[in-house]
Amino acid sequence: MMASGQLSREEALACSGYRHACHVMLYSDTKTQLFGKIPIRHIVLMQMRYDGLLGFPGGLVNPSKETLEAGLTRELLEEVGVAVPVSEEDLVASRYAPAPFVFSSSSSSPYRLITHFYVKKMEEEQIREVERAAVSTATDHGLEVLGMVRVPLYTTKSKGGLGSFLTHSFIGNSRSQLVDSVLRLNMVSAEELHRALTHSLKTYS
Ligand code: GTP
Ligand code: MN
Ligand code: MN
Ligand code: MN
Ligand code: MN
Ligand code: MN
Repeated sequence: MMASGQLSREEALACSGYRHACHVMLYSDTKTQLFGKIPIRHIVLMQMRYDGLLGFPGGLVNPSKETLEAGLTRELLEEVGVAVPVSEEDLVASRYAPAPFVFSSSSSSPYRLITHFYVKKMEEEQIREVERAAVSTATDHGLEVLGMVRVPLYTTKSKGGLGSFLTHSFIGNSRSQLVDSVLRLNMVSAEELHRALTHSLKTYS
């Protein structure tokens, strides 16, 4: 086993008695500027879930019937209306879900869960297409998914932005998946992220 509860893809798939969930951070570069002066730099998509928590698009996958990536693409078609192809190389981490048991809306009994997290870079126009399809053709719109949201990666003069975004409630470990990814992909500097995390604690805890 790798550090901090992480599993390799093979180890994860060999675990019996576990269900599997795959979620993905879809993102693109952008030259857009907020108020014509704050560079947004990247578009990162999350969603407001039916349970009021923020999370990434994706869901439960049945590895005996579909590959992890095919299952994730199926969930993306349901939740964002586009069958975005995802490959094994986009897999960032597989780990045991923090809570030993998860209660699902669609199953009456609790189950043990392994979560697989993917990151996929797209063109800005493809991201915009996902945003349009999410409210028009996605079958889960208004049901499992209440809306897609972009993550603010900047800090405004009034200290709003990423710090305030991080004070919301997130499903599972999606908050750390977001924080780890924006740092690893250099979307925010360590200093900016530190300020945002400090702000999120100061203001609301
Ligand atoms: P149902 O049709 O209701 O089963 O939904 P689904 O198949 O879309 O599954 P969902 O996206 O709710 O994910 C299944 C489980 O994975 C959730 O109950 C959470 O415990 C966990 N989960 C959901 N979103 C995320 C996420 O963004 N990151 C992580 N790490 N876990 C998540
Ligand atoms: Mn779903
Ligand atoms: Mn889902
Ligand atoms: Mn599902
Ligand atoms: Mn669900
Ligand atoms: Mn569903």
